[in-house]
Amino acid sequence: MKFYLDTANLASIKKYNAMGLVDGITTNPSLIVKEGADFEETIKAIAKEVYPNPVSAEVIATDYETMVAEGKRNKSWAENVVVKIPMIPEGMRATKTLSSMGIPINVTLIFSAVQGLIAMKAGASYISPFIGRLDDVGQDGMGLIKDLVEIKKNENYKFKTEILVASIRHPIHVVQAAKMGADIGTMPADVMEKMFMHPLTDIGLKRFLDDWNKAKKEKASITV
Ligand code: E4P
Repeated sequence: MKFYLDTANLASIKKYNAMGLVDGITTNPSLIVKEGADFEETIKAIAKEVYPNPVSAEVIATDYETMVAEGKRNKSWAENVVVKIPMIPEGMRATKTLSSMGIPINVTLIFSAVQGLIAMKAGASYISPFIGRLDDVGQDGMGLIKDLVEIKKNENYKFKTEILVASIRHPIHVVQAAKMGADIGTMPADVMEKMFMHPLTDIGLKRFLDDWNKAKKEKASITV
């Protein structure tokens, strides 16, 4: 499964990109506003940092004409920009138009299997089901991923759309999505950080170093 970071924070992106862990970036209006910088400049800087991996830049409009205009504008900012469009009827019309022009579209705010199916049929390159927000209202976020993976894999349809699991809240979500065969998981930096952690790693490393330093004190011949 590919790992995307769900952030517009360039420092976080650089940190994990240096480890080779950033296969792409997703942003949304809330994440852009959180960074307090210009939208275009932010997307251009991120796109440059992760090139050639994709960065999703969302349209703000909700009517067809303006969504198409914003989509073309966002795409002009960098070769690796993916245009993010909300799962609304006007958005599906814009998805059809922009994807027919060869512009890759990430359909966002997917909360049901049938919404995912509609977006795949409209020509989305990516669909973003929000699992954490479903869990928050007592619905089964991972169940939605299971359904979407099953639909995508059905030989009758041959959908090329990538299932981009969004609104990931913890490492277990990542493991479950990977086991189900989702294409991508996008996560905030704090979830990425938690994925490294295991108390036995810290205990094990401390023991190794304690043993080494103890022996070094006793026997000066041990060198690193
Ligand atoms: C995905 O593209 C969205 O930006 C994101 O995953 C939303 O996550 P949230 O529910 O944590 O805001």
